[in-house]
Amino acid sequence: MKNVGINGYGTIGKRVADAVSCQDDMQIVGVTKRTPDFEAYLAVEKGFPLYISAPEREGLFEEAGIKVTGTIDDLYSKIDVMVDCTPGGIGAKNKEVYDDMGVKGIFQGGEKHEQIGKSFNSFSNYKDNLGADFVRVVSCNTTGLCRTLKPIDDLCGIKKVRAVMVRRGADPGQIKSGPINAIVPNPPTVPSHHGPDVQTVMYDLDITTIALLVPTTLMHQHNLMVELETPPALDDVIDTLEATPRVLLVEAEKGLGSTAEIMEYARDLGRPRSDLNEIAVWKESLNIKDGELFYMQAIHQESDVVPENVDCIRAMLEMEDDPAKSIEKTNKNMGIN
Ligand SMILES: NC(=O)c1ccc[n+]([C@@H]2O[C@H](COP(=O)([O-])OP(=O)(O)OC[C@H]3O[C@@H](n4cnc5c(N)ncnc54)[C@H](OP(=O)(O)O)[C@@H]3O)[C@@H](O)[C@H]2O)c1
Repeated sequence: MKNVGINGYGTIGKRVADAVSCQDDMQIVGVTKRTPDFEAYLAVEKGFPLYISAPEREGLFEEAGIKVTGTIDDLYSKIDVMVDCTPGGIGAKNKEVYDDMGVKGIFQGGEKHEQIGKSFNSFSNYKDNLGADFVRVVSCNTTGLCRTLKPIDDLCGIKKVRAVMVRRGADPGQIKSGPINAIVPNPPTVPSHHGPDVQTVMYDLDITTIALLVPTTLMHQHNLMVELETPPALDDVIDTLEATPRVLLVEAEKGLGSTAEIMEYARDLGRPRSDLNEIAVWKESLNIKDGELFYMQAIHQESDVVPENVDCIRAMLEMEDDPAKSIEKTNKNMGIN
């Protein structure tokens, strides 16, 4: 049984904590918070030992009546790996501390690949991260692109990808970002950083991306145009995506024609937090024209990277050499497809 710490029990951190907790080969031995808010209170209610990542704030937790086990310095000696889920840019600074403390670290997509050194996607480059000390799980958008592009590349080879990514303006729980009433080219420069980010895990893929921000919180949406090496029958692409774990083909005809309806479906599935860890691909959008595959997909940004973090722990701690076995185990224990 491997011991896992979570630094930053926020949107991603609390989900990774739950995903680790339902595995039988790893456990959470501590989560950190800086602010004594409802998430800190609920972490303790759930039975996660709570550590303070800003020791000078200990008094605030006492005042709020939230029981803490210690400060983050007390946590390092208890863990095999720290999953850093702090806001983008902070993880890279924490890496130096983990290094000094002799602890392995997993980071999230808000960190720069160059600062962490290695990036991870379960389907694309699991084996390249076996035994690694510091690894970054690529962002929610990059994870979404890899989930569908890797099996298509394996099926028939990809010459070139172009993708237009429509990104949510904020997460549902956020009140400080937007836009509220605008479509924002973001970044306004072309291409966006998402293509190079995919290349940190699918090293040789020729991919160019453009991204926009829109006033929605539910999901990201991607529009892909993929030039194929050896164009197969469309049914072969459909069969491949249907057989790919963590990919879900959805149909507008069955009432799943928008991100709103897909998230309603996720609520009806009764999953924790109504998460949809799978990438939803609109079946009707799949089309091959002149050797080019077109499709549209939706990404639940708060949850698609969560099973990837579990697989990344197994790779880094060399608990499982075979990515397919880790993916299957993670999915079974989380109750996802
Ligand atoms: N949200 C998404 O949709 C999403 C998707 C994929 C990847 N990511 C990436 O995942 C990472 C975390 O994002 P998030 O959305 O989960 O952030 P979040 O909801 O804001 O949570 C961040 C957590 O880090 C803690 N924190 C803040 N500043 C800290 C500091 N200086 N030192 C230590 N802990 C600190 C916060 O603690 P307190 O609340 O106690 O202050 C909070 O628990 C980022 O790299 C992000 O790019 C996010």
